[in-house]
Amino acid sequence: MDTNQLYYGDNLDILRTHIPDESVDLIYIDPPFNSNQAYNVIFSEADGSSSQAQIQAFEDTWRWDETTEEAYHELVGTAPHLLVETIKSFRGFLTETNLMAYLVMMALRLVELHRALKPTGSFYLHCDPTASHYLRIILDQIFGVENFRNEIVWCYKRWPAKQTNFQKMHDIILRYGKSEEVVWNQLYDDFTEQTKKRVKGGKKIEHYVGESGKVLIRATNKVSPGVAMCDYWNIPMIAGQAKERLGYPTQKPEALLKRIIKASSNEGDVVLDGFCGCGTAIAVAQQFNRQWIGIDITHLAIALLKYRLADAFGDDVKYEIIGEPKDAESAKALAIQDRYQFQWWALSLIRARPYQGKKKGADEGVDGVIYYEDVDPDKPKKVLTRKIVVQVKSGKVSVKDIRELKSVVDSQDAVIGVFITLNPPTQPMVKEAATAGRFQWLHVAHTTYPKIQIRTINELLSGNGIEYPQTPIDVTFRRAERAAPQSQQLEIEA
Ligand SMILES: C[S@@+](CC[C@H](N)C(=O)[O-])C[C@H]1O[C@@H](n2cnc3c(N)ncnc32)[C@H](O)[C@@H]1O
Repeated sequence: MDTNQLYYGDNLDILRTHIPDESVDLIYIDPPFNSNQAYNVIFSEADGSSSQAQIQAFEDTWRWDETTEEAYHELVGTAPHLLVETIKSFRGFLTETNLMAYLVMMALRLVELHRALKPTGSFYLHCDPTASHYLRIILDQIFGVENFRNEIVWCYKRWPAKQTNFQKMHDIILRYGKSEEVVWNQLYDDFTEQTKKRVKGGKKIEHYVGESGKVLIRATNKVSPGVAMCDYWNIPMIAGQAKERLGYPTQKPEALLKRIIKASSNEGDVVLDGFCGCGTAIAVAQQFNRQWIGIDITHLAIALLKYRLADAFGDDVKYEIIGEPKDAESAKALAIQDRYQFQWWALSLIRARPYQGKKKGADEGVDGVIYYEDVDPDKPKKVLTRKIVVQVKSGKVSVKDIRELKSVVDSQDAVIGVFITLNPPTQPMVKEAATAGRFQWLHVAHTTYPKIQIRTINELLSGNGIEYPQTPIDVTFRRAERAAPQSQQLEIEA
């Protein structure tokens, strides 16, 4: 593989068109679990609280519909015989339920993921007890029962809630090898405190009774660095205020992925996450000098992952993005296909956060926002949180839009309004924007910025971004912490 790859799109299409047979060393996937829920991105406000305005990132609700029926027939027509029999019998007793729809969707993808794995490759499927028992049967048919390696139980704590069941506090991770010969690096848990007292200089200390009848001490052979790691892992979930938390729903802790990546891959190996979300597996693969491929179907995830990589690794990370619009024409195609995906992608060009008004569905004339912190030079201790509002248009535009944006800037108490348009602005629009005047940056005398800024998609793509005070504190998104230098990475404990 020449370079790391980040794909926007449906993983089934991407696996089929871009990922060659037997080209990947390690696959980790954390697909939706069939939880029947919608997952929102929760942005944090400048004061650290959770934003009221949340954007739905993805929905984990499955229905049996025409697409599922088609997928079912494709699976039955093309999958290996044992899998076909399994799927047919599932349908026999589950019937056309949401669960069955989910399993069909998963089975098609699992076949492709198996194809992409090298013979020495490992596969980890993150799921929970909702469907893990069915997924395991499907995986047994795809990988072979003999290649099942572990059922890892990830145990975490969360606030206990009163309910009529024992509280669910674990996920399941199913581990398979493509063959018997899988890459494996033994990991260790710490010795117990008692055992630690008996280990000195890597040797175990034993007491024994000598011929004289005295109790003597001797060192036995070298001992291992700890206890071979077991299959239940106590790793805390990412706490609400933890630095690691980026706001993406279902974000997994890096500590979990460190174990998987260290155990089942070596430096330079290719790690693939086909449901990568905000990219925990990708960030950890990058930290540990693996190559990586990430795929996600929403621009919200792709954008957060891009920011995460930039914040954590700066120029040290190199990758190619496939599936994002590269010019006005492909941007238009995205807008026609899905207006929201287009909006989220366009906002990511200026690192703006998608905005959904407090009243759901109400159009407040704002599609995105940027926040930054400024300091009043007269009161240096007073931090001012400044707001920039953004509108994104993919259709026809006119001077009326700019007039509206001007009034939104005023009503939202914003310092600047940005108008992103796919089509070029008309002359009256440009004139109207100019009449809005300039915003005076308090901090630096005589530094001003246009109050209304129009940018076409083409301009943004060619690097002509927006102008605003680039203070060190952009608080639009939570920022990933800078990763430790690569030379230190291998010493980091799992
Ligand atoms: C549970 S989240 C993954 C979270 C991730 N492990 C992390 O730590 O951020 C599942 C992700 O799968 C993505 N997804 C769902 N269906 C997909 C598909 N068909 N192709 C690619 N991505 C998909 C969703 O957009 C979502 O971001």
